[in-house]
Amino acid sequence: MKIVYWSGTGNTEKMAELIKRGIEEAGKEAEMISVSEANVEEVLKEEILILGCSAMGDEVLEEGEFEPFIEEISSKISGKKVALFGSYGWGDGQWMRDWQERMEGNGCIINEEPLIIQNEPDDREEECIEFGKKVANL
Ligand SMILES: Cc1cc2nc3c(=O)[nH]c(=O)nc-3n(C[C@H](O)[C@H](O)[C@H](O)COP(=O)(O)O)c2cc1C
Repeated sequence: MKIVYWSGTGNTEKMAELIKRGIEEAGKEAEMISVSEANVEEVLKEEILILGCSAMGDEVLEEGEFEPFIEEISSKISGKKVALFGSYGWGDGQWMRDWQERMEGNGCIINEEPLIIQNEPDDREEECIEFGKKVANL
């Protein structure tokens, strides 16, 4: 399974590492890919997409790399299972609600509630690992 993510200060990246650990504990292989290195064709071969991005701008996805990636895959992901996660700071998670709605609008199936964590995941590591275990069996 591939985890494609963007992270400015490493918080979403830490979540990705823990989610990877959960997937592996569930007996599946997982690979972390920074969005800047993601090969869209390769990513689209996956049955389940695991995508992470922190809240940026004013409650939006990061606009330089992650937003163009999502835009690029948007028309090609109908029917795929998707799991979303990311870190945020001072907001209330609006970026994730919008992102989820957008992905569902693209025909994605989101069976697992997106995982959002304020700032560093340090005191919520177990939740990230559990999320990974659930995602492994979506
Ligand atoms: C330019 C910028 C814009 C941000 N905009 C938001 C925002 O709209 N809402 C929010 O809750 N946090 C916002 N944050 C806070 C980050 O989402 C938060 O620091 C998060 O933990 C960063 O995770 P990362 O290290 O994975 O990028 C912003 C941070 C930066 C640097």
